[in-house]
Amino acid sequence: MAIDNRIPRHVAIIMDGNGRWAEKRGRERVYGHKEGAESVRACVKYAIEKGIRYLSLFAFSEENWNRPQEEVEALMSLMLKSISDETPLFLQNGIRFRVIGDFSRLSEKLRREIDDCMKLTEPNTTLDLIIFLSYSGKWDILQAVNRYVADLYGKDGGGSFSRSGGSVPQLDARTLSSYLSTAGIPDPDLLIRTSGEQRISNFMLWQTAYTEYYFTEILWPDFRTTEFQLALDAFSQRDRRYGKVK
Ligand code: FPP
Repeated sequence: MAIDNRIPRHVAIIMDGNGRWAEKRGRERVYGHKEGAESVRACVKYAIEKGIRYLSLFAFSEENWNRPQEEVEALMSLMLKSISDETPLFLQNGIRFRVIGDFSRLSEKLRREIDDCMKLTEPNTTLDLIIFLSYSGKWDILQAVNRYVADLYGKDGGGSFSRSGGSVPQLDARTLSSYLSTAGIPDPDLLIRTSGEQRISNFMLWQTAYTEYYFTEILWPDFRTTEFQLALDAFSQRDRRYGKVK
């Protein structure tokens, strides 16, 4: 089958603007998050329709833990509910559900729900839906380097590198990538951010080195298929040179 290079293999989205969307309507911020979950649904379906293979969604950053406790709890409950509600849809549509981030800060209940859904959907190959939860790009790079060093020295100095002898082996890009939490997932081709903000906010810092960026003023709860298609149209016009001359 011919590969259509105009369709990105991996789309990443920074879903932003739920709070503002709700406030504009005189409603609580959590109302915006609920509508945002509907946009997630619409985008997942559209990604499958368009033949996108990986869809990464930045749902909750490490920094988001600093939001009011009430909002954090509402977001975590929404996550829990969405996973249990949507598991049948994942199974019917060949979706592999994955969550990436610092699990140590999640509740036991949520961790269990995530684990079960990930295991259940692991064989699916139509779309990898990757939710970044309690994630930050700097955390990812640090955990990768720390794990690499731990493997090098091993427990009690029993690793492949001895503390007393020789120079430290140079860490190369391919090895670092293999220690990132996204190991095995191709780097994003397209990164979309909604709500008019134009920054990466500690998302996949290493993995987006050559990603095309697309910014839109649209708030996340209003980002549905028409908006998604506009982003794909913009991507199809981009000339990706990866630093080379064509
Ligand atoms: C950004 O809006 C959105 C979030 C921090 C949470 C995104 C979560 C969802 C869409 C809920 C459902 C997710 C899944 C994966 C089912 P904001 O709160 O930063 O809005 P603001 O910038 O207007 O304040």
